[in-house]
Amino acid sequence: MLIAKLNLSAFRNFKKASFLFSPAITVIVGSNAVGKTNLLEALYLASSGKSFRAKLEEEMVAYEKDLARVEARVINKNGKVALDAILTRGMIDIGAQRPEKIARKRMLVNGLPKRLIDFAGNFSVVLFGPWDLDLITEAPTLRRKFLDNVLSQVDREYRRASLSYEKGLKQRNRLLLRIREEGLSRSQLLFWDKLLIKNGDYLSSKREEFVAFANQTKPLDDQKFRLVYDKSAISEGRLEQYAEEEVSAATTLVGPHRDDLIFKIDNSKYKVERNLNVYGSRGEQRMGILWLKLAELSFIESVLGERPTLLLDDIFSELDHKHRDIVMKVAKHQQTVITTADPHFLMGFKKVEKIKLAA
Ligand SMILES: Nc1ncnc2c1ncn2[C@@H]1O[C@H](COP(=O)(O)OP(=O)(O)OP(=O)(O)O)[C@@H](O)[C@H]1O
Ligand SMILES: [Mg+2]
Repeated sequence: MLIAKLNLSAFRNFKKASFLFSPAITVIVGSNAVGKTNLLEALYLASSGKSFRAKLEEEMVAYEKDLARVEARVINKNGKVALDAILTRGMIDIGAQRPEKIARKRMLVNGLPKRLIDFAGNFSVVLFGPWDLDLITEAPTLRRKFLDNVLSQVDREYRRASLSYEKGLKQRNRLLLRIREEGLSRSQLLFWDKLLIKNGDYLSSKREEFVAFANQTKPLDDQKFRLVYDKSAISEGRLEQYAEEEVSAATTLVGPHRDDLIFKIDNSKYKVERNLNVYGSRGEQRMGILWLKLAELSFIESVLGERPTLLLDDIFSELDHKHRDIVMKVAKHQQTVITTADPHFLMGFKKVEKIKLAA
């Protein structure tokens, strides 16, 4: 999969801009706040139909404008594909009359309107930015979101099971509350138990598969990383075991919504395997995430038969020379777009296409 060309209009700080990408490495260079991350956000939008940072999608529409447009021209196994995303604030000014209502988002594939689920999947990307370090250090929710994101990208059934599980969980928790407060019979839970067990099993088995796959991917240099899937299994027996506690807590205590991932690091320095969140330096944690993202890349490739484009946002600044070299080596294995504020980091890398952004 490749991005060949990207046209932006009224997207974030870009009024009108057009970019061509190398099938190998493209580096976006520019000082702070010129729009480097915005550009990656546009690529991510073309890939998934979503933003990785906007809370409200209209934040992506340029200030004072009504309508933003992202046009991506990609090449995948089906040939050339045109992906367009149009974002608005829900209203559009069409001249003298009052503003008219308009859809907030439209996604087109080769000019035809598509639902998000059919839009996504034409162009896969794996994104890595400084915020991803939170994956190692923050709460388990983020790690579950990571797993869901990877697996949803390649598995429609996972998306369905995940939605169904979430809904069922809410209903079941509501019932647990009523059992506690109103003395409702526990037999009412049976239907939801079954639904959660069926979908929950699917989610954990897929999560397990991904973790096993990741643990087979090559180490980076002399640093060995490993994931441990801390699984909260759901079964009739486990639900039975927690029956009373669940009623008093009015919440479901077992199942994939309680899963976690533990990052381990093993290198010559540590002698024995250690927890990366506890003992890892920032640089080591960064490499751990890079390793994870590469595992994600290979995993998606193994399912889709095409290697996603790697997007690296500003990851050089905390790495030393040796580790920057590792990143550049990794970048050679698929189309890669890298942003950096410091062109200094690019010294010694000859075969890269440079895009300079200026304020
Ligand atoms: N909707 C919008 N309309 C116009 N400009 C916007 C919009 N949203 C964000 N911006 C501008 O985009 C700029 C930030 O761009 P971006 O995050 O891409 O910078 P960057 O080049 O990645 O910088 P850094 O090196 O600091 O990470 C901000 O200065 C902000 O004012
Ligand atoms: Mg940035």
